[in-house]
Amino acid sequence: MKLLVDSADISEIESLLASFPIDGVTTNPVLIAKEKRPFKQQIQEIRHLLPDRLPLHVQIIADDCKGMIDQARTLYDWLDGNVWIKIPVCKEGLRAIRKLSADNIRTTGTTIYTPLQAVLAAKAGAGYVAPYVNRIDHEYGDGAGVVKTIADLFRLYGFNCKVLAASFKHNSQILAAMEAGSHEATISPELLKHLADHPAANRDIHGFRHVWQSQYGTFSL
Ligand code: E4P
Repeated sequence: MKLLVDSADISEIESLLASFPIDGVTTNPVLIAKEKRPFKQQIQEIRHLLPDRLPLHVQIIADDCKGMIDQARTLYDWLDGNVWIKIPVCKEGLRAIRKLSADNIRTTGTTIYTPLQAVLAAKAGAGYVAPYVNRIDHEYGDGAGVVKTIADLFRLYGFNCKVLAASFKHNSQILAAMEAGSHEATISPELLKHLADHPAANRDIHGFRHVWQSQYGTFSL
């Protein structure tokens, strides 16, 4: 189970990489725009933060097949290492995924709301699909259920495509996606930072230190 950071914030990514077992980064146009910096510079800096082997998933903006392909090629030119081009799964997106796959450009099918979108993306050659768990929960009902159906179908038909569950607003949604068989999950810094927090654990940590200090008058060993 791999955990990625869903962010374009350089200092957040840097600090999360230092503390958490992070396996890569995903961005999207909204996350990039929030940083209010030139896109090329921003995305190259994010790439440089990551070891080459860790994946960076970057989304294109065009909405027609030719534009998507041109932008994917540009991103491949700009970025070294393990790069995946996020393409929305729609008619034009599927065409682009097929052509890019034929040219060995790695793609991630994004904006996934249904298992059928995921199957089409996998058949077109995408290496990942990104179902939007919270958006599905919020708008249609069962995000983890969609993740489970996709994971089951990929296993049943032997697709060489992984599920990268995305769009989480609560820890419970992350756990549900893991239980549903997602291979990977991309999580916002706000959620990631608190994944290991628990009030009882915080109370215990404080309690151990308090007793130690009462006895030894120091926190040294
Ligand atoms: C992932 O690839 C998507 O960009 C992202 O997770 C969408 O998340 P949101 O619903 O929090 O915007």
